[in-house]
Amino acid sequence: MKEVLTGLIGHPVGHSLSPLIHNYWIKQYGLRGSYKAIDVPGETLKQNIDSLRDEGYAGFNVTIPYKQDIFRICDRVDEMAQKIGAVNLVVIEDSGALSGFNTDTFGFVENIKEAVPDFSFHETTALVLGAGGAARAVCFGLKQAGVACLYIANRTKGKAEDLAISMGGQAVDWDIREQAADGVDIIINTTSLGMNGNPPLSFGFEDVKREGVVVCDIIYMPQETGFMQKAKEKGCSVVGGMGMLLHQARPSFKAWYGIMPDITEELRYKVTEAL
Ligand code: ATR
Repeated sequence: MKEVLTGLIGHPVGHSLSPLIHNYWIKQYGLRGSYKAIDVPGETLKQNIDSLRDEGYAGFNVTIPYKQDIFRICDRVDEMAQKIGAVNLVVIEDSGALSGFNTDTFGFVENIKEAVPDFSFHETTALVLGAGGAARAVCFGLKQAGVACLYIANRTKGKAEDLAISMGGQAVDWDIREQAADGVDIIINTTSLGMNGNPPLSFGFEDVKREGVVVCDIIYMPQETGFMQKAKEKGCSVVGGMGMLLHQARPSFKAWYGIMPDITEELRYKVTEAL
């Protein structure tokens, strides 16, 4: 069995949970290989990638701050990653060519499907809070899964407008984000508000008038944000960000190791412990 080398490039990468996740799967499926966190400081991205290719790497994940820089280095970037504007998975082909993909949309949609199996996105109305990189992947996923009406509320309205134009949605003022929740089927926080070390997200659920609305926070530190707690009290179906983190790793593993891996309870436990 050939040894398959993979890793994550970014700066900083020390805190990343990806090595734990991928090395767990390598062991679980009895494969030969390893997944390493590779810190790439400064202007050395191209040289670092050339070294990985020379060392025979099968590919790598890309994180902050290189999700956009990687575009100019890839030989081809698939349509979804182009539309999202970020590459987080690179496959080094046998020819040495670099193919770029984005797995965040898959992670987001699969997380909801797993957590709320009876929810169907088809013909629903969604409200997305935030218009940054994560929001782009989320909005793409919502539209692809069949959401009919997409509202985007962002502090900087121009960014919500740009995203709405690119994905086929409607920008709403940040100040009326709570009223915009009236009648929606799913609400997703993609802002950094509520994450450990950041201020909380101010959001009341008074305008959510029925039970069972799906409320998702893509934050996983903490595992339950204040936004999620309030949604729970309101009777919403609440989904945290841990599942997205785990699911977005699966297509990368499949691309390099040929197996679509499962998320076991043991893996969830290990990741939670490591947070
Ligand atoms: P990511 O790639 O994780 O989405 P990002 O691109 O920096 O990160 O986006 C962060 C999001 O959180 C943005 O929507 C940002 O709003 P702005 O576009 O107005 O900056 C939002 N955000 C961050 N801090 C915020 C705050 N204090 N109030 C409201 N929104 C905030």
